[in-house]
Amino acid sequence: MGNAQAISHTNVEISSKVPMDELVALCKRRGFIFPASEIYGGINGFWDFGPLGVLLKNNLRDRWWRDMVITPPIGPDGEPLQIVGVDTAIIQNPKTWEASGHIAGFSDPMVDCKETKLRYRADHVMVLLPHTSKMPPAPKVPSVAFVEGTPLQDIEKHIKKIAKKLGISISLKDFIGHQYREIEGSELNIAVHHDKLPLTQINKDKYTEIVAPDADVPGTLTEPRAFNLMFETQVGAVRDDSSKAYLRPETAQGIFLNYKNVVDNMRVRVPFGIAQVGKAFRNEVTPRNFIYRSREFEQMEMEWFCHPDEAKKWFEFWTEMRKSWWADVGVSSSNLQLRQHDKDELSHYAKAGVGTVDIEYRFPFTAPGFGELEGIAHRCDFDLTQHEKHSTKKMEYFDDSVQPPRRFLPHVIEPAAGLTRGVLAVLAEAYTVDASRPSQMYMKFKPSMAPVKAAILPLINKDGLPEIAQKLYYCMRTKFMTEYDAKSNIGKRYARHDEIGTPFCITVDTETPKDQAVTIRFRDTMAQERVALDRVEAFVAKALAE
Ligand code: GAP
Repeated sequence: MGNAQAISHTNVEISSKVPMDELVALCKRRGFIFPASEIYGGINGFWDFGPLGVLLKNNLRDRWWRDMVITPPIGPDGEPLQIVGVDTAIIQNPKTWEASGHIAGFSDPMVDCKETKLRYRADHVMVLLPHTSKMPPAPKVPSVAFVEGTPLQDIEKHIKKIAKKLGISISLKDFIGHQYREIEGSELNIAVHHDKLPLTQINKDKYTEIVAPDADVPGTLTEPRAFNLMFETQVGAVRDDSSKAYLRPETAQGIFLNYKNVVDNMRVRVPFGIAQVGKAFRNEVTPRNFIYRSREFEQMEMEWFCHPDEAKKWFEFWTEMRKSWWADVGVSSSNLQLRQHDKDELSHYAKAGVGTVDIEYRFPFTAPGFGELEGIAHRCDFDLTQHEKHSTKKMEYFDDSVQPPRRFLPHVIEPAAGLTRGVLAVLAEAYTVDASRPSQMYMKFKPSMAPVKAAILPLINKDGLPEIAQKLYYCMRTKFMTEYDAKSNIGKRYARHDEIGTPFCITVDTETPKDQAVTIRFRDTMAQERVALDRVEAFVAKALAE
């Protein structure tokens, strides 16, 4: 397959404490995430979750579901909010996507390279203009393009290749301003990010002077063209335009399609929410940065239906609520920021409202900058109006709790989070370098997020130890995700559990038959504590509740 998965080259850190290549390697080695279809060379933009990855993803998903649907937050008036869940079809009537604006408007600007035949998202291509003082008759120095997130050393290699091809003598320092010329290393990286210009801000006449990200000579980039991101499929035996359907590009529309069913049948009153977790598909032009931008991913979305006059209040409420939620699942708030969308980047549905705020995380490959983790959008009544128009079904809400009773189309505040992207944030946040350990690192998951909560380790496989360990394991496994691990020496077992982030290693040793106690080793401090066998379960339960 031509577009086989390239795991490393664009996935490396720019400057951050987390080495992205090592995180990707760990995810494979320890069964978190594998490239999809790997035995066939992969398929670009698709990933499989392995045994540990699916446990981690489900922990994050279940926590979201619990905090949204099972025990929704307490509202500003001190009363619990009302949110119900749905799980809707991935393929819906194609009229859905006409109404939602996705057929007309869900596209990215893309450019093709005529030399390499590669395609890029125009807004992801960055350009370095020459600042060189090389004087004529020196040959003209071109501008150099790279895909945002490309590691510095790869940009340097690209420039070297261009220099060789064009027979000129240039280096990265010819493309950054004079004020940076003396600096080195990660500061040079900051200089590049300061001086780069998005391709979208460059006049089309100047394209002839730009060398594309993977090309050798200037002038091979086409002008940007709109590229619809929805995957098409056919439904039924007949293969023509009448059977054309789409894989959903967002879970949100399944919620809007069921708004009327929920209002009519579920005894909900505005304001209320409908939540959904599920797969979404986008034929991204440049999937990259591991699972950050993939073509198949999962979203956790909630549509909050409220009176138009209250939309601003709820927008602020949900923005704060969602930001603190990410901190609750172990994403450090110092790596989170809120960013208001500029007018020109608002989605088609958010134009008329209070706007959109992104909750951004400092991913290893965006550091020192940030990348989107979740968007909170004010969608106004855009979707309900559109579905009312296209389906001719009335979507108005009748409110008889006020005098006189009133009819209105609710406005919608939408916290839309990426589950897949959330897993990446949790993984990056947990990765902790520690040279004092045999594993050189450990995964510092919040215990409630850790895929495996406790490991039961008999020190040796004799003298009655396995029997005691198994009895404990049979009891613990009914309460928490617990592993029984009797293979290899205890040091290697600790190292493996450090790598998968198990918060508690419980060792049954030669003292256990005598004192009916075990040693609990804490992942983060490596400290050990002797705990009575009959207190182990309560001990772990208490730590997980924190
Ligand atoms: N219903 C609104 C909506 O879909 P979005 O900002 O396009 O909004 C919401 O997507 C979230 O879904 C993003 O914040 C991001 O976390 C995640 N997401 C979007 N595209 C993605 C992709 N190609 N790969 C992984 N996650 C993605």
